[in-house]
Amino acid sequence: MGSNKEQIAGINTPTTMNWPKKALMVTPDFFNVEYAINPHMMNEKGELNTIDQKEAHRQWSALKKTFENLGLEILTINGEEGLPDMVFCANQCFPFLKEGQLNIVLSEMHSEQRKPEVPYFKTWAENENIPTHKLGDRPLEGMGDVIWDYSSGKIFGGYGLRTSIDTYPKLETLIDQEIIKFELLDEKFYHLDTCFSPLGNQTVAIVKEAFTDEGLKTISQHFKTVLEIPLEEAINQLACNLCCPNGKDVVIQQGANRTNKLLREHGYTIHEVNTSEFIKSGGSVFCMKMLLH
Ligand code: ARG
Repeated sequence: MGSNKEQIAGINTPTTMNWPKKALMVTPDFFNVEYAINPHMMNEKGELNTIDQKEAHRQWSALKKTFENLGLEILTINGEEGLPDMVFCANQCFPFLKEGQLNIVLSEMHSEQRKPEVPYFKTWAENENIPTHKLGDRPLEGMGDVIWDYSSGKIFGGYGLRTSIDTYPKLETLIDQEIIKFELLDEKFYHLDTCFSPLGNQTVAIVKEAFTDEGLKTISQHFKTVLEIPLEEAINQLACNLCCPNGKDVVIQQGANRTNKLLREHGYTIHEVNTSEFIKSGGSVFCMKMLLH
């Protein structure tokens, strides 16, 4: 599928964006559930979920291997003590291309607990000679909420729960591209990446319950095929938090059987992984890596 340029109604032509070749992951050394900033982090009694650290390491390594088998080069940075959510490294940055060169916008995390994660990504980027940008003090949670459709070059953005609507004008100016925005209202789908996943080929997987009527209308204007993920699998398996790095393969939490059937019917190859320990914190495949160029 590669990249293409496409004129969208709005201000600017989307930046050419190829399918990514690399991904950044953060080692799960200090991953844990130590506070609750989304409803997935607690059990039915309202207590914090408990993590099996050994199992989390096994799951993380298997996910890394799965990405590598799909041809992605995996870069890693070490998790830091006291930052139990740092492993969810889709959230601290938003990557974009400026004159063909990878740049990143550093996030302004919504919760106090996650703010100290961001400087580690700044240091990493500086060491890699990747220019970084900071927008200001309005919340922005990176690729958790701001998502590339690599095949069309369009960018979609969620707002309302983590990222603020007020963040977007500055971000659009910085990257010189319009972002197609959706209001998110349901705490279970607190990031756009929990309910919206572009699959290339003018196709997107969504959790329709997470969107407003206006949002659903916008989605239908930008995609030919809209695949609806069953609500139960979107909640229990975080099925929409999948990763499609190339328009063909889909890496997804195991056991989302109805979702997988639907994706297979549309020609995708499914690679099931187990991220159950990370789902206890509200994250799965998509947010455990940051795709890069
Ligand atoms: N516990 C983390 C949080 O609430 C999970 C983040 C998962 N990331 C994601 N993009 N959905 O921030």
